[in-house]
Amino acid sequence: MTETASLARQTNDLDAFWLPFTPNRAFKRAPRLIARAKDMYYFTPDGHAVLDGLAGLWCTNAGHNRDLIVAAISRQAAELDYAAAFHFAHPKSFELASRVAALAPADLNRVFFCNSGSEAVDTALKIALAYHNARGEGARTRLIGRERGYHGVGFGGISVGGIVNNRKAFGTLLAGVDHLPATYSRDQQAFTAGEPEWGAHLADELERIVALHGASTIAAVIVEPMAGSTGVLPPPKGYLQRLRAICDKHGILLIFDEVITGFGRLGFAFAAERYGVTPDLLCFAKGITSGAVPMGGVIAREHIYDAFMQGPEHTIELFHGYTYSAHPLACAAGLAALDLYRDENIFDRAKRLEKRYADAAMTLKGLPGVLDVRAVGIAAGIDLASRPGAPGERGYEAMDRAFHDEDLVIRITGDTLAVAPPLIVTEAQIAEIFEKAARVIRAVMT
Ligand SMILES: Cc1ncc(COP(=O)(O)O)c(C=O)c1O
Repeated sequence: MTETASLARQTNDLDAFWLPFTPNRAFKRAPRLIARAKDMYYFTPDGHAVLDGLAGLWCTNAGHNRDLIVAAISRQAAELDYAAAFHFAHPKSFELASRVAALAPADLNRVFFCNSGSEAVDTALKIALAYHNARGEGARTRLIGRERGYHGVGFGGISVGGIVNNRKAFGTLLAGVDHLPATYSRDQQAFTAGEPEWGAHLADELERIVALHGASTIAAVIVEPMAGSTGVLPPPKGYLQRLRAICDKHGILLIFDEVITGFGRLGFAFAAERYGVTPDLLCFAKGITSGAVPMGGVIAREHIYDAFMQGPEHTIELFHGYTYSAHPLACAAGLAALDLYRDENIFDRAKRLEKRYADAAMTLKGLPGVLDVRAVGIAAGIDLASRPGAPGERGYEAMDRAFHDEDLVIRITGDTLAVAPPLIVTEAQIAEIFEKAARVIRAVMT
């Protein structure tokens, strides 16, 4: 074999790439390959159009390969490929931070950049610990997460997270972590569109945790305002308000992980605005660049930032950051994405479509094996009955059939399907997505 032929064979080989969060052997037997994308569609290498029912991975909120973002990235690549954010900075990082702060409610005004949701979560947890330390309350080291929470895959995130498969193989995780109960009860909430009436009292579990450990040992509580990755669990009415009040009472910081809910998914720039609850720290990622370049960050309230601004001026206030914090390409993509969100009223659009979206999702009620449908903003979770003795098999088959038989991308967590398309989705496409989903559900109920 010539060297060129051998290289061609190697580069067409699927063996080398170890795919994340994927059953690798099944994938490599029947790959789902995506070569191109535009707006609401992916295209396979042979040019087949596939409707994106998941906005990439909850991130391409403005749709794929939008001209404005593509142009901004290519201009930026030619102008400044990289500049360190330690001791130096480039102008667009300040511009983007100001734009993000302007979108965030109240005095959430100080923006720390990183590159992913997982990094945003670790950053927020570290800021919370260091904040108490800086104020002479260094005994506040405990972190409280929630069952079924997803906060990425760093050790901090999986420690406060509450999804067993993401935790059980990875040792003892962070010490001093406790968990609130999940807010979901199928008996009480099945087939609710929007925020369920039942469940606000579950916030009071924080009082129990405080009574157990002592408030003076607790640094922060972290929750997703709407738990996305576990299968779309909207917060019960009043739940987040109650959590805020209990945190205030005990001097505990409240962190919202808005990696999914940020940038329009629930019809507002942030869920904090939808629910009228201001956290002390807010994590974002995904939609900030509409998925085009990796970026994440944490928005802090002013008093958090101010607590660090002490000591001699030549000393670093927070020993934390990433080589690629505020990367020029990400900042350029972020500014262009925010322009698109603003110019096309994309968050409002999501709000206007919410009812239509929920109605379409609820058409799945009554199909065989559909145990629950939840919908909020432009997101829906559909619980399917598991096959006896084979949890997750039906969900996997549904995702695979959706792609191969229906030209539709959806997401699965076990036997729960998640559907959350780009926010530019049309009413006709919403109907199409749930018609395809219905056919898939019927097909896997064997
Ligand atoms: C709420 C939440 N936090 C954190 C993350 C992790 O983000 P990333 O995969 O960018 O690290 C995710 C990803 O889906 C998420 O949904």
